Amino acid sequence: VHASPRHWQLSIQRISLILLVVQNSALVMVMHYSRNNTIGSQPRYLASTAVLLVEITKLLVSLGLESHNLHKSHRSSAPSERAVLLYRSVFAADSWKLIVPAALYTLQNSLVYVAISNLDAVAFQVTYQLKILTTVLFSILLLGKSISSRQWLALILLTCGVALVQISGSGSLSSPELSWRERLASCIQAPTVPTSNASKGLLAVLAASLTSGLTCVYFEKLVKDSLASVSLWTRNVQLSFFSLFPALFIGVLWQDGAAIARDGFFAGYSPVVWLTIALQALGGLVVAVCIAYADNVAKNFAASLSIVVSYAASALVFRTPLMFHSTSGAAVVLLAMYLYNSRPPPRIHLLPIANER
Ligand code: C5P
Repeated sequence: VHASPRHWQLSIQRISLILLVVQNSALVMVMHYSRNNTIGSQPRYLASTAVLLVEITKLLVSLGLESHNLHKSHRSSAPSERAVLLYRSVFAADSWKLIVPAALYTLQNSLVYVAISNLDAVAFQVTYQLKILTTVLFSILLLGKSISSRQWLALILLTCGVALVQISGSGSLSSPELSWRERLASCIQAPTVPTSNASKGLLAVLAASLTSGLTCVYFEKLVKDSLASVSLWTRNVQLSFFSLFPALFIGVLWQDGAAIARDGFFAGYSPVVWLTIALQALGGLVVAVCIAYADNVAKNFAASLSIVVSYAASALVFRTPLMFHSTSGAAVVLLAMYLYNSRPPPRIHLLPIANER
């Protein structure tokens, strides 16, 4: 092997961030299609079932990747011995730590659902961009990262740029934010019945932004602190495992049990729904790699860039008219990215290896 470990990590970092931009942009469109096109007289598929299948997919893929790693490192062991090793690493003494992010991600999704039900899509999305700032705050508080004033400016510009792209597209039905809204709504449940308790919605989205920053940074700290001894895929298996419980008991059984008993678990499923599930699962796995090999701030930059990519793709594919505000917003996002990355900060792109002692 000629590439140094650092070179290898930088490549993973870049590939995962690019993949996240592409995945996010593709998901926005595929999800939009899947939520708005039902098959014949079938009901629209239940998002809770999709969420459960996403968690099961992530669990199986992470298990597969971890057993592949074990196979490479324990070639001489019998398969049964490797299975025991896998079991022990997944249910290790500290696996309970993943209950916290699993519960927080579930809470975050619930808050997003409440927010979407009580706010209009644009107000929700613009406010939800606050997670860019909460992530940085928690990175400073929990990870001890330092951010230069130039980077603070870049982060504020990023938040404003994304808001500009979204606010000015609010009048267009085929604009990306409708499907983005759907995507977020589907994280919890399908059809939302809009009520108009704006202050409740605002509180929920503020809390969701806070939870997003806290959960991602908690996961980043957990992964990076123990990467030398516990692999990323073991952590992911643990996270998906503990997420299965709320997805199954709260989402599928408690919220949608009656509809599933009446119409069936797979009612409304089409190839596009399966593609959406695959893309969402891929997104979760790529987010995990981004968090471990880059960081959460970089992950949020990639997510913001994907909003710009969706806007450009929507203009190209659906021929939605380019608007001055959206285009300037896109330019501001790109400028923010340049500003943030042009002068490397002291410790912002911590690689997992940097934590080893
Ligand atoms: O909006 P935000 O960036 O906080 O959302 C992160 C998403 O990534 C969550 O929906 C979470 O389920 C997913 N994720 C994952 N696996 C990880 C980390 C995050 O599926 N290891």
